[in-house]
Amino acid sequence: MSGPTPSPFLIDCWPRLGAAGPVLDLASGRGRHARWLVARGEALVALDRSGTALRELQRSLSPSARLLAVRADLEQGHRIPAADGAFGAVLVFRYLHRPLAAEIERVLRPAGWLVYETFTRGQTELRNGPSRPEFLLAPGELSQLFPGLRVVHFEELVTPGPRPEALARLLARKPG
Ligand SMILES: C[S@@+](CC[C@H](N)C(=O)[O-])C[C@H]1O[C@@H](n2cnc3c(N)ncnc32)[C@H](O)[C@@H]1O
Repeated sequence: MSGPTPSPFLIDCWPRLGAAGPVLDLASGRGRHARWLVARGEALVALDRSGTALRELQRSLSPSARLLAVRADLEQGHRIPAADGAFGAVLVFRYLHRPLAAEIERVLRPAGWLVYETFTRGQTELRNGPSRPEFLLAPGELSQLFPGLRVVHFEELVTPGPRPEALARLLARKPG
């Protein structure tokens, strides 16, 4: 698989999730996670407001891939265009729009999984990545954003390497 690599957090979590599909990759971008999951046989919905990103994702996959690309602006109406309980797993990486929390819970089926990783306020000290407060999580915030889900794993960390990132990671599960 070419292009940006998936987050190590998704790779670590995935074996615990079992046959999770269908999976919603929310704010998927060009699909570094969608492509990784399609390669593992998962059925995916990739949602983003960028038609360019979604077209790039579709072009990178074989026509037989089980991927539906949906172009939608999640901040218009604060709604995910999907039925209640439509997904066995929802992925959110590097995107934060707090009013969607209840929507994420709604579209998860019972016993469905949420895998979420995005930047914390610690990022402002690292001179790269987003700096606007509305895109950055307060300490502990991600672990409390989904009151209807059970927290299975939560951590906040600064990644090592030349371009460190201050991240929060959450693996949570809807009650069965
Ligand atoms: C930093 S990228 C992350 C992409 C991908 N999740 C990843 O980790 O590689 C943020 C993505 O959020 C999308 N996005 C931003 N605002 C959005 C909105 N209002 N509705 C839907 N997607 C949005 C952008 O188009 C972009 O693809």
